[in-house]
Amino acid sequence: MLHLQLPTEPAWADLALRNLEDILVDHLYCEQKAASNAISMIVRYPERTALVDTLADVVAEEWEHYRRVLAEIRKRGFTVGPQRVDEYAVRLLKFERKGERDKQLLDKLLVCAIIEARSCERFKVLSQTVEDPELAVFYRELMESEAGHYTTFTDLARVYYPAQEVADRLQACVALEKEIVETLTPIAGRIHQ
Ligand SMILES: [Fe+2]
Ligand SMILES: [Fe+2]
Repeated sequence: MLHLQLPTEPAWADLALRNLEDILVDHLYCEQKAASNAISMIVRYPERTALVDTLADVVAEEWEHYRRVLAEIRKRGFTVGPQRVDEYAVRLLKFERKGERDKQLLDKLLVCAIIEARSCERFKVLSQTVEDPELAVFYRELMESEAGHYTTFTDLARVYYPAQEVADRLQACVALEKEIVETLTPIAGRIHQ
């Protein structure tokens, strides 16, 4: 799905859904990071008009996702504990060529695109397996929204970089993501692990 090389194993959902509180809280932090990442890019690249205009909308959408997940948590009386280390994101962020402002922007856009793609894929699995019918609809809607964000980030990359460069770098990012997913130890209640 969306260029990912490795589909999620069916067993992932059983582990993820073993504790609904944990998965919703982990998801809450994913939405928070998606919004704050988009804000950081706007702060770092204010001269890139298309980027600022597009990501201003993405921030609003991710924050709406955050509010919706928070509402699901509050409705169920769950507690938001401290954020846990997201090994998946930590390892994927190493893809960025740090210290090279222009090249790093391409890498940032592609890492965001891949995280959106994996989130979208996992939300699809959750929508098909979660027992709560309200949450099934909820995850279906978020799946569609994150699929749109994957396209948003790859389109933005092509605004600023030649199509071939984007394609080559995207392929490298997808290959790294596959390696990360293959080697991560699965943990209960996590979106990306
Ligand atoms: Fe989101
Ligand atoms: Fe998103």
